[in-house]
Amino acid sequence: LLIFILTESALELVPKKIANHPSIRKHAARKKKKPGEILLDRTYHHAAMRRLAGAEKRGRPDIAHITLLQVLGTPLNMSGMLKTYLHTAADYVIEIDSRTNLPRNYERFVGLMEQLHVQHRVPSKGARLLSIKKATLSELLNEVQPSKTLAFSTMGRAKSLQETCEAISGEKNPAVIVGGFPHGHFSADTMALTDEIVSIHPQALDAWVVASRIIYEYERAIGL
Ligand SMILES: C[S@@+](CC[C@H](N)C(=O)[O-])C[C@H]1O[C@@H](n2cnc3c(N)ncnc32)[C@H](O)[C@@H]1O
Repeated sequence: LLIFILTESALELVPKKIANHPSIRKHAARKKKKPGEILLDRTYHHAAMRRLAGAEKRGRPDIAHITLLQVLGTPLNMSGMLKTYLHTAADYVIEIDSRTNLPRNYERFVGLMEQLHVQHRVPSKGARLLSIKKATLSELLNEVQPSKTLAFSTMGRAKSLQETCEAISGEKNPAVIVGGFPHGHFSADTMALTDEIVSIHPQALDAWVVASRIIYEYERAIGL
């Protein structure tokens, strides 16, 4: 079983500090929601985000959307050999059942994530496909107890993906960690939780490119 974690993801509800900004209030009113119940999104909230700390790493839920679609659509996931988690910059962990059929449409994905933050599970009855709880990456790793924890970053040691995935293919439940943010690097806390940090290319690639390649190489390494 491979554990995939998209960490420090730029997906969070609008923080209180900027909830009163006109661009946020206008956007929330259009969606018929409270300002604190909509996702922070740089496309609409650029002006308001100037007042936020660490703004360059925030307000990009599209990264989680595209990456999750790439990951959940793989043969590895369809054969039940992938466990996917989304850890957010605001320290929530979203557990995603492998059978989840995420909306392909971005606005619908945003609506689902907003509903999840308010209701804590989706759907509200029956088999639970998505659930959210307050937890740090460290708490998540403590819970899932991976046999090895590998993170991917341009700051890591240069190594081919083939070699990397072959090395973990014999592990019981290795975890691979990719950053769900547009710019910048993992926090020191994230780095400290890993056994190894690997760079697969001299330049920074989009999270979804890295994620889908990791899974493909892992599939090859285990002969799927
Ligand atoms: C858009 S990047 C973040 C940009 C960041 N400047 C960086 O250098 O990693 C999103 C995520 O993709 C992964 N990533 C991007 N390029 C990578 C590379 N060349 N090697 C390994 N991981 C990479 C990392 O997990 C990173 O957090």
